[in-house]
Amino acid sequence: MLAEERTFVAIKPDGVQRGLIGDVLTRFERKGFKIMGMKLIQVSDEQAASHYAEHKGKPFYPRLIKYIQSGPVVVMVIKGYGVVDSVRHIVGATNPVNADVGTIRADFAQVMEYNVIHASDSLASAEREIAIYFNEDEIFDTWKTKTEELIEEDELL
Ligand SMILES: Nc1ncnc2c1ncn2[C@@H]1O[C@H](COP(=O)(O)OP(=O)(O)O)[C@@H](O)[C@H]1O
Ligand SMILES: [Mg+2]
Repeated sequence: MLAEERTFVAIKPDGVQRGLIGDVLTRFERKGFKIMGMKLIQVSDEQAASHYAEHKGKPFYPRLIKYIQSGPVVVMVIKGYGVVDSVRHIVGATNPVNADVGTIRADFAQVMEYNVIHASDSLASAEREIAIYFNEDEIFDTWKTKTEELIEEDELL
């Protein structure tokens, strides 16, 4: 039984300012995932605090909040099979020094403080984070990806 999931991804301000939106998006598109929501936004104080609530009180928290608000970010909702774990693999380890070669953070970032991209780490955090940044009417599921078509045809569902 194959089930689809949704995840939340943000291209952080350094990624936007370095012109990496296209490179990052390409990795998810060529995987065959569905980009079902996407917008360029300035993160508000409330959104930043809610997004990073789990890190409140840690030494790097003030810098993290400043970083995520230092310029616009591209926020996305992405749908696919195993998408939460799969996107985390494509993104790579938090510290780019430890990220596997070929991942976004290994290829595009040097330090943890400026690691280009955020991706949800579980189904529960994905739904929580999607709700921070999107209304449901900004998320579209009105077409089938090739992968969805093939899996539905094969009645693997
Ligand atoms: N020890 C640290 N020093 C500086 N920045 C950090 C540190 N740990 C995490 N961060 C920053 O906070 C973000 C959120 O941390 P975390 O949720 O642990 O990582 P991830 O983004 O891989 O899920 C990281 O992407 C990184 O930008
Ligand atoms: Mg995290």
